[in-house]
Amino acid sequence: MNVEQTESGAAGRFIVFEGGDGAGKSTHVRLLVASLRAAGLRVLETRQPGGSPLGQQIRDLVLHGGDITPRAEALLFAADKAQHVEEVVRPALARGEIVVSDRYVDSSVAYQGAGRDLGADEVERVQEWAVAGLHPDLTVVIDIAPEEGRRRRGGEHDRMEREADDFHAAIRAHFLRVAAAAPGRYIVVDGMGDRAVIHANIVAAVGDRLGLTLEPVAKP
Ligand code: TYD
Repeated sequence: MNVEQTESGAAGRFIVFEGGDGAGKSTHVRLLVASLRAAGLRVLETRQPGGSPLGQQIRDLVLHGGDITPRAEALLFAADKAQHVEEVVRPALARGEIVVSDRYVDSSVAYQGAGRDLGADEVERVQEWAVAGLHPDLTVVIDIAPEEGRRRRGGEHDRMEREADDFHAAIRAHFLRVAAAAPGRYIVVDGMGDRAVIHANIVAAVGDRLGLTLEPVAKP
């Protein structure tokens, strides 16, 4: 792997998956991580919220706790990010690892900014401060219609998932907007496609953008 300093400002590479609830991110994070490891790369698989011990506690509060005001919610997600980036993500990047995170700053700007109506710019400033300006090298957006996400989630809903479809539509629109504005740093894949095809597209794009030789896993 080329170990020049990158967008993330460190030796490793930072890949983020974003998308609506039920888009299939967790599956594709797992598959990409398997493909990276099969290529002999050192990979840290992680997520937000909940990628650190403190983050686990914050995750329980924000997803499964009682009422939280929108601003308090934004700050709790920001606290999760601050801890996660300093304790987990930056050290792994400094060791030259590839960090693959299920969600990052764009989720806050989408859910708390666009979804909760706090204003994308303000939420982004707070989250950027929390992560001290650490940007992903590449973000994979898995695009899914809110109705399909709801259908896939079935009867289980956390605090975010319980929100109406128009909340999830605002989030979807936000992800597509930021991806369209910076095509060099994002790829968008259609979450309705065949799982093996989506995986192959992600592997090809990650290989191409990050200069890595990768193969899809055999049976996605
Ligand atoms: P999770 O169970 O990890 O969902 P998923 O598998 O869809 O990622 O729950 C994360 C939830 O938290 C999801 O609904 C998005 C939301 N979220 C925010 O609202 N703001 C944030 O900053 C982050 C990271 C997540």
